[in-house]
Parts: sequence; structure tokens; C-alpha cells
Amino acid sequence: MEAFVLLGMPRACITGLGRYVPPKVVKNDDLRQWFDTSDEWIYTRSGIRERRWVEEPASTAELGYYAAREALARAGKSPQDIDLIIFATLSPDMYFPGSGVLLQHKLGLETTPALDIRQQCSGFVYGLSIADQYIRTGMYKTILLVGAEIQSTWIDYHPEGRTVGVLFGDGAGAAVIEATEEPGRGILSTHLYSQGAYAMELCVAEPSSATRRHELPGSYGMRPYMNGKEVFRHAVQRMGEAVQVALATQGWQPEEVDLYVLHQANIRIVQAVAEFFSLPMEKFYNNIHKYGNTTAASIPICLAEAWAEGRLKKGDKVIVAAFGSGFTWGSAALVW
Ligand code: COA
Repeated sequence: MEAFVLLGMPRACITGLGRYVPPKVVKNDDLRQWFDTSDEWIYTRSGIRERRWVEEPASTAELGYYAAREALARAGKSPQDIDLIIFATLSPDMYFPGSGVLLQHKLGLETTPALDIRQQCSGFVYGLSIADQYIRTGMYKTILLVGAEIQSTWIDYHPEGRTVGVLFGDGAGAAVIEATEEPGRGILSTHLYSQGAYAMELCVAEPSSATRRHELPGSYGMRPYMNGKEVFRHAVQRMGEAVQVALATQGWQPEEVDLYVLHQANIRIVQAVAEFFSLPMEKFYNNIHKYGNTTAASIPICLAEAWAEGRLKKGDKVIVAAFGSGFTWGSAALVW
């Protein structure tokens, strides 16, 4: 790989990070107005204490815009420098078009390409991989990757919605990814997987292109479904495998990695992965207690906060990994 860099093939490097979370804090006990639940149940099962919810009406693209502005400023770039926007979300502003074009317009851009990707909690990792390929081939030099979600509007507030409803939050994270020819830095490898056999284990099945059932009496409407135990079991296994393949590809020992950033779905998933690799939890950046599961936004929010706290320094070895609905999962190995 080093040879390619020397021959002039650029690598993709994250040069700026930003995040935005809405100001409204919703604590576990606040959820008791809808659900028969408790702070103790939610915290011990998931590690979540509170999450952020938007005030309605709100726009996913707008959340992404705030995060993008911060990332661009930190990278010393203006919107006009962006060659491509990649927008990862499961909660777009509209059924179509995607939120990427809305963000492009908000940024004051005229014809910059905008690509929406629908990879749920793995959206940021998939986006990193896409950005990496465009930059390695030389097609683009500067890519804006955004993960943004408004999930408080699809939560099922009926009593039976409590298992899913207590876990999710709103927020956005963004990364400016640029070509670098500095040897040894940037995204070294990405590893992507999916398994549609499990599509129905975690989904919002309606509204759907297949039926107009949501208009009919007895419709299930727009309600999320999650087979929590099955999702948990797969998440632990697949996230561990994704970390393993990144380590093996780089020839890194688990303890050599300076920081692991795993998608924030449940602190117990991160603990299980840490235990599998015999690593202390200090090696993992977590903020699920503050934000819950922010899906495509969770990894860039973590990265932005880790960077702001001085936990990402030049030369650090970093592994990011995610698992989510689809099922989709993957990882990336980076040198900061
Ligand atoms: N408050 C209180 N009780 C709740 C509840 C809530 N919000 N949600 C469910 N329960 C109840 C259930 O009704 C069930 O009761 P029963 O045993 O009387 O039927 C019980 O709690 C379930 O408990 P348990 O099965 O021990 O929960 P769990 O340890 O499996 O934890 C999840 C549940 C959802 C937190 C866990 O399965 C999980 O995190 N799954 C993966 C989530 C995930 O990763 N999703 C996104 C992937 S990106």
C-alpha cells in the first residue's frame, strides 16, 4: 500500500470534524409520560441516561448543515471546496429526494454532487469507504461526509413501543475527508458487509413501496420493529469480527490501537467487544449515556468529541466499527 502512496496515489484523511445535537435534553425519567419504564431499566440494559430530541418541526438536512459548518471550519475549508457530499441517514427529510441535495442547497452550492446512502447505523463506515475509493482514484479531492438523524419523530409512543423508543436520539456528525500524499496517514483500509436475510429483525416496514396498507383500517402505520435479543447477539459477533478484520489487515495487535470508536447502540455491545479482545474500556470512546443511539450520526459525533477532548492525535491508530439494521456492518482502520 505504501508503494501506491509513493507512486502518487493519494490516501483519504479526515481533516475536520463537527457535530450538532439539539439543545432539548430528554432524560430517561421523562420517557415515563409515554412508557412504563424506569431510569434503572434503561441505564442497566443500555448505558443510556439521556438523549437529545429536536423541537418540531425540524429537518435532518439542517442538523447535518450545523455539523458540516463546524467540520468545514475546523478543516479550514469553505463549502465551495467540496467535490462531493455523502449524506448517511435512515431518517431523511422526505421519502424522496434525499437529504444530501437539501444540504447542498443550504451550503449555497449550485451543482456539487450529493449522494444519499441508506445503511442505517453503519452509514458512516460505508460513507468512509465510498469517500476513500473516490479519493484513491483521484476523482475527488475533498469530500463532506455527514451522518444525521431525527428519530424522535418515528418513535412509536404507544406503550408497546418502549423497547425501541427508549434507545434512540437525534443528532448529526460530519467529517471533511481530503486527499493526502503524506505517507502513513489516513484511511488505511475499510471492510463492509451486509446480510439481508435479517432485514426484518430491525426495520420500519411502512410506509412501503409494496402497499398502501398504512391508509387502511388496522394498519400498523409507521412503527419501528426490533427483535432486540437477536439484534444484540448479531451486533456483538459482527462488531467483533469487523474489528478483527481491520486488525488483521493492518497487522496490528489489539492493544496497539490508540482509540476504538464503535457505533453507540448499547454500552453492553462495546463491553462485550472489549472483553473479547481483553482490552480496557478506556480504549473505547463512548458517549451513549448522553445521546442514546443516534444511528448514522453516532460515530462522527464520537470522533468530533474525541478530537475536541484531545483523544485523537496525529499518528494515532484508530479503528471505527458499526453494526445496524440491514443487517449491515463494517469497520475502518485509520492513522490520524
Ligand atoms: N422499560 C422497561 N421494561 C422494558 C422496556 C423498557 N423500555 N423494554 C422492554 N422491557 C421489558 C420487556 O417487555 C421484557 O419484559 P418481560 O420479560 O416481562 O417480557 C423485558 O423488559 C426484556 O428484558 P430483557 O430481555 O432482559 O432485555 P434485554 O436485556 O434484551 O435488553 C435491549 C433489551 C433492547 C436493550 C437489548 O436487547 C438491545 O440492546 N438490543 C440491541 C439493540 C441494538 O443494538 N439496536 C440497534 C442496532 S444498531
